[in-house]
Amino acid sequence: MVKSRPRVIFSAAVTIDGKIASKTGDSRLSSKKDKIRIHKLRSKVDAILVGSNTVKKDNPLLTVRHSKGKSPLRIVLDSKANISKNSQIIKTSKKIPTIIAISNKAPKKNVELLKKYPLEIITSGSSLVNLKKLLRILSQKKIKTLLVEGGGTVNWEFVKEGLVDEIIITITPYILGGKKAITLVDGDGFSLIKKAKKLKLKNSFRVGNEIVLHYY
Ligand SMILES: NC(=O)c1ccc[n+]([C@@H]2O[C@H](COP(=O)([O-])OP(=O)(O)OC[C@H]3O[C@@H](n4cnc5c(N)ncnc54)[C@H](OP(=O)(O)O)[C@@H]3O)[C@@H](O)[C@H]2O)c1
Repeated sequence: MVKSRPRVIFSAAVTIDGKIASKTGDSRLSSKKDKIRIHKLRSKVDAILVGSNTVKKDNPLLTVRHSKGKSPLRIVLDSKANISKNSQIIKTSKKIPTIIAISNKAPKKNVELLKKYPLEIITSGSSLVNLKKLLRILSQKKIKTLLVEGGGTVNWEFVKEGLVDEIIITITPYILGGKKAITLVDGDGFSLIKKAKKLKLKNSFRVGNEIVLHYY
């Protein structure tokens, strides 16, 4: 039987005060050692997903480079089909399988432009991408494990919808502060602690000057 959705692993590097980027969007928090660990993790999952703002701010490749192994399928949540054609994701879409998840709100001309690239477009949702529908489609495509790599807005939507199975967080030795700096999970947030799911600490270990926490 096909599972209704992939196993979702949520991964991020955070500062001691819970930020994943500075107020200007600087997010290079991980040490070399932690990058190796993250890339090993990437090589073990079927797909990796980020939000459109992370692509705008970080211009990531989302590949496996700091360890051996195959790069997973890449997925960008991009309701308006607005991803820059100069982004590394689009530029490498010939070599690395890529899905751009858009919504019904995407202007036709943006979609037509995207269709020129060797990538797959999946449409769901009327405004933002409908995560439950998207995950169902990914399951049908034999995606069993999905690594969600942010940012704060995307992380909140996954948490709010109860779609997270595992969380692997690296606590990096920085304090960034700033009301406008992106935190691990942004969005509206829960009003009460009892509304938030209590997680189970599975493992914790030190990587050099950082701590990795693994929750279920
Ligand atoms: N330290 C780390 O580990 C780490 C990791 C990742 C990112 N970051 C940082 O996080 C920051 C970006 O975070 P962010 O919160 O601004 O943006 P984000 O979460 O990367 O992207 C949010 C955008 O994704 C699109 N989206 C489409 N469907 C969605 C859905 N169902 N749920 C949520 N979003 C959906 C929306 O834009 P559209 O309307 O365009 O579709 C939304 O505004 C960057 O500064 C980046 O450097 C840090």
